[in-house]
Amino acid sequence: MGMKMQTEHSIPVFQPDPEVPRNLLRACPVYRATPLLEIPGRSGHVILVKDERDRMGLGAFKALGGVYAVARLIAEHWQEATGRMLEPEDFLTPEVRALAGSITFVCASAGNHGLAVAAGAGTFGATARIHLAGTVPESFAERLRAKNAMVVRSGEVYEDALAAASADADTTGAVLLADGSWPGYTHPPALVMEGYTVIAEELRVAFDESCTWPTHVFLQAGVGGLAAAVSHMIRLNWPVQPEIIIVEPEAAPCLRESHRAGKPVRADGPVSSMGRLDCKEPSIIAHAVLERCDVEYVTVSEDDVAAACAYLDGTGLATTPSGAAGYAAVEQQSKSADTHSPFRPLVFFTEAA
Ligand SMILES: Cc1ncc(COP(=O)(O)O)c(C=O)c1O
Repeated sequence: MGMKMQTEHSIPVFQPDPEVPRNLLRACPVYRATPLLEIPGRSGHVILVKDERDRMGLGAFKALGGVYAVARLIAEHWQEATGRMLEPEDFLTPEVRALAGSITFVCASAGNHGLAVAAGAGTFGATARIHLAGTVPESFAERLRAKNAMVVRSGEVYEDALAAASADADTTGAVLLADGSWPGYTHPPALVMEGYTVIAEELRVAFDESCTWPTHVFLQAGVGGLAAAVSHMIRLNWPVQPEIIIVEPEAAPCLRESHRAGKPVRADGPVSSMGRLDCKEPSIIAHAVLERCDVEYVTVSEDDVAAACAYLDGTGLATTPSGAAGYAAVEQQSKSADTHSPFRPLVFFTEAA
């Protein structure tokens, strides 16, 4: 059941089964498909928007990955302990909650992944401990505490919090549930990405019904989990193939640089206002997946994304710079677009303002 992860010469192979997260999420009372909107862009094009701003009441698409990965890891612990598989309806039984109660999930977060892990742990009766760097706003820390997560302030930047979360898991026996991946650590982040495949499946169903498919899909990326999971599904099963454009901040183009280098590499730069995309190192799974999805890479500037946010705010569709990055890239591209070719772009508003 579920996704197969193998390593071939240490390059991870991602083979998700979107039916598994879909079945699990259907048993989740707060799950429903998020809206697909059509909005007029600043430059006059009609733009399709997958609006993730209220995903499962958590304010970002990340809910799909963290909640699902917590559930799957609890199911794996259960199977190890009892030899039995868990069905979606078993999760809330006292026996399973008792087992979940013995597990602490630990992660570093720029905000949304931590909220998703905390929500998953809370839903299934486990504990969550989230490491936040100094750059993460206190509002996220408060939202995490409201979900009964322990919050630890760890270092100045995201990488410090990541090192602290790994050390925490090593010394306490907690389960490290990161959304990024690195050599030797791929299973939990691959589950997180399997959760994100649901977004692509919701879109496929909606486009299939309307019989209108996007010509271009713009996916903003931090470590690349969302971009790779959605790109993988598009190339796997969308009958009408779009161009796929991966969007990163000028300050952190780690996936573009990894593509150019032909291997995962660091991309240094100043701090970006696109905080959730400000990742200087890619997920190795995301990099490997994107390498075989025939995608292009663009960067957006701080000014372009500020203008995008201001425009969206004025249309009543407020999101953050991280949430608006894909839209900002569309506006950048429309300036040079060939006006005779069809241009029906799809973007993702990945979080609420
Ligand atoms: C709002 C938002 N947008 C985009 C991303 C990028 O996702 P990924 O890190 O999987 O590339 C994140 C990641 O935290 C996010 O929170």
